[in-house]
Amino acid sequence: MTRVQAARTQVAIIGSGPSGLLLAQMLDRAGIASVVLERRSRDYVLGRVRAGVIEQGSVEILRRAGVAERMLREGLRHEGVEIAADERRYRIDFGVASASLTVYGQTELTKDLMEARDASGGSPQFEAEDVALIGVDTTKPRVIYGREGVRHALDCDFIAGCDGFHGVSRQSIPAGVLKTHERVYPFGWLGVLADTPPISRELVYASHERGFALCSMRSAARSRCYVQCDLDADVAQWSDERFWDELAARLPAELASRVVRAPTIEKSVAPLRSFVAEPLRYGRLFLAGDAAHIVPPTGAKGLNLAIRDVDQLAAALVAHYAEGRDGLLDEYSASALRRIWRAERFSAWLTSVLHRFPERTSFDRGMQLAELENLTSSTAARTAFVEAYTGLLP
Ligand code: APR
Ligand code: PHB
Repeated sequence: MTRVQAARTQVAIIGSGPSGLLLAQMLDRAGIASVVLERRSRDYVLGRVRAGVIEQGSVEILRRAGVAERMLREGLRHEGVEIAADERRYRIDFGVASASLTVYGQTELTKDLMEARDASGGSPQFEAEDVALIGVDTTKPRVIYGREGVRHALDCDFIAGCDGFHGVSRQSIPAGVLKTHERVYPFGWLGVLADTPPISRELVYASHERGFALCSMRSAARSRCYVQCDLDADVAQWSDERFWDELAARLPAELASRVVRAPTIEKSVAPLRSFVAEPLRYGRLFLAGDAAHIVPPTGAKGLNLAIRDVDQLAAALVAHYAEGRDGLLDEYSASALRRIWRAERFSAWLTSVLHRFPERTSFDRGMQLAELENLTSSTAARTAFVEAYTGLLP
């Protein structure tokens, strides 16, 4: 018989993306024990290039969790954003709602969270294979997995499913209970990272006849840029030259002239999807982050939603352990879903305004341009945009 190594913790956390790592950190600070199980290697998790826009509310949460020090030092504070449509340019000042954003790569945040875990002695169990959730609808849930040739059984009070869109946690909710809501977009984003100065001090979202483009950044010397691409785009077909040409072609001429071409450090294609799962709780299992929802990246909401889910879940678990109150655990799913749907609305709306859809007519283009005009001419519309984009209304 194969030997099974048994262990026990209070909260088993599946996945060591930003959600899992932040939850472990918050629980640790409240004296609650957890074990993080991660399918991939440490290098893989630390090497992923993802989003980079952190809302003020998220900064606050990260600060409370004791992991914001480097972000506050090195992150770039933005007080506005530019939206371009062909040659038209609109700057939206966050001042209408007294808001700001911090631009700081998710890769850097993951590194900070990982360092905090290492310092506390709670590093994730990497390369955990065949993770399976057992008895989540009982009071004695258990996670089984394989690691370094040994079978493990981890008993716990709760399981946090922080294992992203393709994880095992959501799939552990019976089909008769789980409902999913989805919109798949007929295009993707091709993103590159390059050591070249950003074309502007602020982010530029560009809606163009050729398709959407975005110029973001990681520092004064490093740019992160995207162009809308076909779903079957192959990075091998996208030389650096072709990427920079396409990006420049979608920007207003003055901004295009500021594109400084440099070899790319990373290049990848991501499909766009809107997705919501419900409920976010099944027995002793709670879903958070990309395991629970996906937003198209246009609104820069994915990471921020995950941070808020985790903040809410951590508070609920702390209330359970410290005060024996389960009200927040009971409310978690319904209350998180209200917040998630609002972010889904904004992300889907901004995606529809800025992208080129295959079947679109000249009337549809007129509607897109009118939406942008409305943002600049109506203070109410602009304020609503800023509230949603900067996450002022959590
Ligand atoms: N067992 C263990 N770990 C798993 C499993 C599994 N079966 N399936 C997936 N994982 C791991 C993945 O390898 C990944 O490291 O779970 C982690 C999930 O991390 P993310 O996908 O980053 O999801 P999350 O932590 O919720 O992060 C929120 O914000 O900017 C957005 O989408 C972006 O990743 C980002 C997200
Ligand atoms: C990024 O910097 O990677 C980024 C910024 C804004 C978005 C999406 C991605 O909407």
